[in-house]
Amino acid sequence: MAKLITSTILHGGDYNPDQWLHEPAVLAEDLRLMKLAGVNAVSLGIFSWVTLEPAEGQFKFDWLDRVIDGLAAHDVRVILATPSGSKPAWLSQRYPEVCRCQPTGHRDHHAGRHNHCPTSPVYRDKVQIINAKLAERYAGHPALLLWHVSNEYGGECHCPLCKQAFRDWLRHRYGSLDALNRAWWSSFWSHTYTDWSQLDFIDGSINGLVLDWNRFVTDQTVDFFRHEIAPLKQFTPTVPVAINMMGTYPGLNYWKFVPHVDVAGWDSYPDWQGAPTVDESGMACQTAFIHDIYRAMKPDRPWLLFESTPSHTNWHGVPRAKRPGLHRLASLQAVAHGADSVLYFQWRKGQGGSEKFHGAVVDHVGHEHTRVFREVAALGAELKSLAAVAGTTTRAEVGLIYDWENRWAIDAAAGPRNLDKDYEPTALNHYRPYWQAGVTVDVIDMDCDLTGYRLLVAPMLYMIRPGVAERIAEFVRRGGTFVATYLTGYVNQSDLCFRSGFPGPLRPLLGIWNEECDILHAHHVQTVQSVAGNKLGLSGSYAARHYCEVLHLEGAQALARYGADYYAGQPAVTVNEHGAGHAYYIAARTDDRFLQDFHGALIRQLQLPCAWAGDLPAGVNAQRRGDRVFLMNFTDKLQRITGARAVELPAFGAAVLPWTKG
Ligand code: GLA
Ligand code: ZN
Repeated sequence: MAKLITSTILHGGDYNPDQWLHEPAVLAEDLRLMKLAGVNAVSLGIFSWVTLEPAEGQFKFDWLDRVIDGLAAHDVRVILATPSGSKPAWLSQRYPEVCRCQPTGHRDHHAGRHNHCPTSPVYRDKVQIINAKLAERYAGHPALLLWHVSNEYGGECHCPLCKQAFRDWLRHRYGSLDALNRAWWSSFWSHTYTDWSQLDFIDGSINGLVLDWNRFVTDQTVDFFRHEIAPLKQFTPTVPVAINMMGTYPGLNYWKFVPHVDVAGWDSYPDWQGAPTVDESGMACQTAFIHDIYRAMKPDRPWLLFESTPSHTNWHGVPRAKRPGLHRLASLQAVAHGADSVLYFQWRKGQGGSEKFHGAVVDHVGHEHTRVFREVAALGAELKSLAAVAGTTTRAEVGLIYDWENRWAIDAAAGPRNLDKDYEPTALNHYRPYWQAGVTVDVIDMDCDLTGYRLLVAPMLYMIRPGVAERIAEFVRRGGTFVATYLTGYVNQSDLCFRSGFPGPLRPLLGIWNEECDILHAHHVQTVQSVAGNKLGLSGSYAARHYCEVLHLEGAQALARYGADYYAGQPAVTVNEHGAGHAYYIAARTDDRFLQDFHGALIRQLQLPCAWAGDLPAGVNAQRRGDRVFLMNFTDKLQRITGARAVELPAFGAAVLPWTKG
């Protein structure tokens, strides 16, 4: 697998010179400004297809040659894009099959971008041709650093070709209609399929179908990607390939791309200043959670921040300007969590088009005398001084499962609760205590290898795929600590309910049986009361909302019990010993104070390594990377850190210090 080797943190971003070819002076000025801004890498040609191939089979590379040579002469490396994210009009006009169809069957007009059919043989061919031309031409060019394949793959197509591909995919998965009907429980509402041709629509009443459609969309997109990269691997086998992913975008299970990409990375646009608050730690924690997904995807190498805005977006409801310092802070946060790049959308604002008001390093005014440019340039200089961090990785002792298929299944189900299902926010709530304590967490999917972790937290693990319960039990038997919550172990990989009693295959490991789940209105509050002398040192009573499962102990011990209602006194938090380890169960959606106490106790008992010894003020976060610790102030107030190492952080300030133990 090709590996990205850089001796420095990459700094730069999306560069669209094809919008400026009519003004060569602007392109020359770009090179001067890039030097000033400390830019050392740009993502080039993402939306250049029509400029590269203005008519079918007629290619024009001279402009790109000049741009790449100019960049190389200024020590700027090129992350070269394949242009499939936006197709030329001549292609849609001549071959309508390349345009997507809606679920109604209606075919989209040529408009927008990110809208091709992933199955169309014509599109696949045309993409391979242009990709091969690019790869052949720039193979061996010293500036070529990495392939940026397409742009933000996403969406789905319901054209006849895609439907047939789905039927073929199902045939391959199930072998027979009988097996498919059993897996989908399709006798429900008389939906049994008696001929493959009847599989023509997405039917929300068959949960297994919805799941399989989502799986198919992912597999088809991965297949399209593999098609795209075939010529790249042929002509430039040592140049790594990557795609820019979109955080926790639900439409694609990004984990399925992991074996096929050489580098993981995402486009990060936190809605800073979105809330009327001066403490941005909520947004910072959410961003950290996603950074930790991308770090965990390839634990042996850094990931890339492919896009971020140096100032504001043009699409948040209220796209506020980043307060002074916040850009540096957000960028260093990505580096702290393992990114080897700070890249922007976009280098220069275009004069027209729907993104003309999106933030950029170079504003419409075109010079370097802006606050944003100065902040970017200062960051560029600082990133050079962090070269020692480039290439380093951080090993996590905690794994937290956030699983795309599980999310699909929870979202598709009618019940057990419909409002506030909140899978992702719940995963984040369990992540937060570790983030606050500066404990490194890998955010993983349920099929990831568990060896190496000491603690595994799996909020709302509703779906349990084959083999997962066995792997978790083995992890605990060898001394691992496992934490599960309400809504665990309800369905299998086909969304069929377990009939062995919830939490299904985890029932023996957790030593409990969940007989029923009480679903609470938003205004209902249940209490969870600590059992005196419990092993985690939980004390007093906590609030619980939304989900309260009624448990029976089958070997586990209660650490807390419900305080009210017909199940008052029944266990709400339990622990079961298994082999050399422990398996905890939190049966209700407890408040943040509980999660803080519970996970805080685990951090202490397991002596999990923290980035910073001692207390940090609220809103200040520490993360360790390599032999550095990043101290970050997400508040708009000056913060003083006292103790063995006294540090003063200005509003939205950050410091990168040598790491020391204890
Ligand atoms: C995405 C796209 C970019 C641009 C930005 C704007 O991340 O990849 O092309 O549209 O959004 O924020
Ligand atoms: Zn299609």
